[in-house]
Amino acid sequence: MSLIFVLLLLLESAQGDFRAEDVIKQLNEDLNLQLNIYLNCGDVDELLPRMDMPKVIMETKADDPLPRILGRYSERSLTIACLADNQTLSGIVQLLWGLQYLPILFLLSNPKEFAFERALSQGFLHVLALNLSDGELYTYLPYPTVQIHRLEGISEYQRLTQLKNLQRHAVHITVETMAPRCFHYTDRRGRNVYAGYMYKLLHEFIRVHNGTEVAVLQDMDPIPLDTGLFMFKRGVIDMAPRIIHPLGWVAYYRSHVLFNVNGYIMVPWAEPLPKSLYIVRPFESSVWAVLIGYLLLATIIIRCMRDRTSSLAAIFLQVLQMLLQQSLSTMWHYTQGLRHVLVFLALFTVGFILSTMYQAQLSSSVTTGLYKRQINSFDDLAHTDLKMMMENFDIEFLMNHTKSGVIQPELLNIVLNKSLDEVFYHRKHLNTSYIYQAIEDRLRFELFQQRYLRVPLFKQLPEVFYQVPFFVGMRHGLPYASLFNVYLRRIWESGILLKWEGDAYFEGIFSGEISFHTFTGLQIQVFDMEFYYCTYILLALGWIISGIVFAIERLVCGRHSAAGNK
Ligand SMILES: *[C@@H]1O[C@H](CO)[C@@H](O)[C@H](O)[C@H]1NC(C)=O
Ligand SMILES: *[C@@H]1O[C@H](CO)[C@@H](O)[C@H](O)[C@H]1NC(C)=O
Ligand SMILES: *[C@@H]1O[C@H](CO)[C@@H](O)[C@H](O)[C@H]1NC(C)=O
Ligand SMILES: *[C@@H]1O[C@H](CO)[C@@H](O)[C@H](O)[C@H]1NC(C)=O
Ligand SMILES: *[C@@H]1O[C@H](CO)[C@@H](O)[C@H](O)[C@H]1NC(C)=O
Ligand SMILES: *[C@@H]1O[C@H](CO)[C@@H](O)[C@H](O)[C@H]1NC(C)=O
Repeated sequence: MSLIFVLLLLLESAQGDFRAEDVIKQLNEDLNLQLNIYLNCGDVDELLPRMDMPKVIMETKADDPLPRILGRYSERSLTIACLADNQTLSGIVQLLWGLQYLPILFLLSNPKEFAFERALSQGFLHVLALNLSDGELYTYLPYPTVQIHRLEGISEYQRLTQLKNLQRHAVHITVETMAPRCFHYTDRRGRNVYAGYMYKLLHEFIRVHNGTEVAVLQDMDPIPLDTGLFMFKRGVIDMAPRIIHPLGWVAYYRSHVLFNVNGYIMVPWAEPLPKSLYIVRPFESSVWAVLIGYLLLATIIIRCMRDRTSSLAAIFLQVLQMLLQQSLSTMWHYTQGLRHVLVFLALFTVGFILSTMYQAQLSSSVTTGLYKRQINSFDDLAHTDLKMMMENFDIEFLMNHTKSGVIQPELLNIVLNKSLDEVFYHRKHLNTSYIYQAIEDRLRFELFQQRYLRVPLFKQLPEVFYQVPFFVGMRHGLPYASLFNVYLRRIWESGILLKWEGDAYFEGIFSGEISFHTFTGLQIQVFDMEFYYCTYILLALGWIISGIVFAIERLVCGRHSAAGNK
């Protein structure tokens, strides 16, 4: 009995007997590492004489911040710290900025309790602590509360620190209205329901990983930028379902960037032209000028060809008749000689082509409607009298962009500074008095309302206004950031995120967040009076001119005949 006890005791002590050198070697091998970073370890060669891994030796000094590994050293590195005081820990925080998932090994000889809670609060999950005096190796499980585990082998560490279950840990997210990323409505049973594709992304993450979703700052909608950033910095917000600008990654960090989203400008569709103009619109003014010139030229040529006895007016009318393919009942062309037949053929062909084209153009524009000049580019924007309704942050952003020469500075002239609420309200209701800019998902969501309009209210300019990376903003040092990244990548690669985005548009419709617009008074009546205004004017002009000519002729002839009678 006592023998077994002694044996067990021996076994126990043998299990815990880890040496720093072996642990590091084992980790380097297992994780396929390329670099060891020693922090506050003094003389490493004395501590670990036979390590052949490339190494960086650093000390924390109060006034000298440590460099970040991210973008400077290989991410395949192991951080080894020989102290566990606050200064060393904040040194590790600086060092592993954005890379909290890298392994950390503490080599401790002083008998102070090592605070794993503080490591967790900085987002470090893969932490090992080796007690140099008794050779015991510890790691911890973070949720629901920190549980310290004594390890029996390094392979166990790999398994234990794989976080998969948040164990009902509270995840704080914001739920401000940023349709279609996140919005809420009251359903038929009177419950407040949250929707939106980015909200769903976070919601599903929390559900799948057994976390508890906690909505923060629910009463602020939308959350002012300053407040949001401050709350992120203080760690009140863990993740936010919205697209944000990087802003230097000061207040928050990010998940993986999946793609870039573009910002576009939407402009009101051009106003319809008055119907009276339809009759002159099939040809441009230059074509009309050519037509009239051609008519006059043909009249003069035929007059020269003939014996000069026939009147100019009669020839003009004949040419006009031929051009409009109206038969000349009293004239037989073949009796007039070859030249006349050729002239007739030329006039007929040109007239046939022109009048057929005119009819085709006219009927197509009656079908589609005619509109004033559309705004098609940023250059056109600078010359419109419409104003672009923008919010302070976006104006500042635009100013920065025009200053750096990315965007035409003329755009600043059409900016209208309004509050965020006003911009959201008018844009959502597709108020055509203004121009708006938005990130593409929002733009698609809002323009979804004109899906069933024959003539849209707004069009999107093809030029990209700005670009922001698509990521989920996370507070610095979020322990489950890498867990979220794996999830995010899967959701994206499987196309589920796009599906959710499409669903959000329809959910926007049936929640009443947006609504389909119907067309009002857009049926074009071909036979209304307005359509013939131009014709009437022409007719009236013709009558007036012929009346005047008649009167003049009457007067002149009257005088002639009077003179003849004398
Ligand atoms: C280290 O930081 C913790 C929490 O921030 C604090 O409670 C503790 O007093 C600090 N210890 C020292 C030695 O500064
Ligand atoms: C390290 O081991 C010694 C001896 O067992 C113990 O007194 C000390 O508290 C331990 N230190 C830590 C940080 O666990
Ligand atoms: C979720 O977490 C709770 C609290 O730790 C635990 O009791 C439960 O078994 C977990 N559920 C799943 C499905 O893992
Ligand atoms: C926009 O208006 C707000 C107040 O209405 C003002 O504080 C801000 O400076 C203005 N922004 C610009 C760019 O003029
Ligand atoms: C605009 O540029 C200034 C100075 O570089 C910077 O402080 C500010 O954050 C920028 N604003 C935006 C919205 O990017
Ligand atoms: C659009 O904006 C104009 C000017 O602010 C306002 O007079 C009009 O009522 C708005 N229209 C709608 C539908 O909100």
